[in-house]
Amino acid sequence: MSCCQHNPSRRTFLAASGLATAAVTLGACSSGPEQETFSGGVRTQALKLDELPVGKAIQQAVGGDQILIYRESDETVRAYSAVCTHQGCIVGASEDTTDPFICPCHSSKFDKTTGEAIAGPAQLPLTKHNASTEDGWILVEVEPK
Ligand code: FES
Repeated sequence: MSCCQHNPSRRTFLAASGLATAAVTLGACSSGPEQETFSGGVRTQALKLDELPVGKAIQQAVGGDQILIYRESDETVRAYSAVCTHQGCIVGASEDTTDPFICPCHSSKFDKTTGEAIAGPAQLPLTKHNASTEDGWILVEVEPK
């Protein structure tokens, strides 16, 4: 059990008591912001697998969404909403395989394998979209057009 899986009665008691230590106790267990996962969309052909070499990333429209796609290995692809969690600019994908995703507005940086915010004013991770490969295509679950 992680430290954040508290006994609810203890959390409720601490929060209700108004003790200054309650905030310290609960805050100390924070493991970072929760990452949203897009759901309820349709699996959509984003691009051909051979159009995105291993290690490369791309930002493009898929269905009705702006999406960042990262090909981590032959069969592993990651996809995230390109909408920055700071103030909503569209995050880009660099040609350089070592670069993280970078927002052009205030330079927040996001890890390509997790979507976590690793620098800049953004604190929340990019929203994750389910992604897979099938029959030579990268498929991403997005809003239909
Ligand atoms: S909108 Fe992306 S860093 Fe501010």
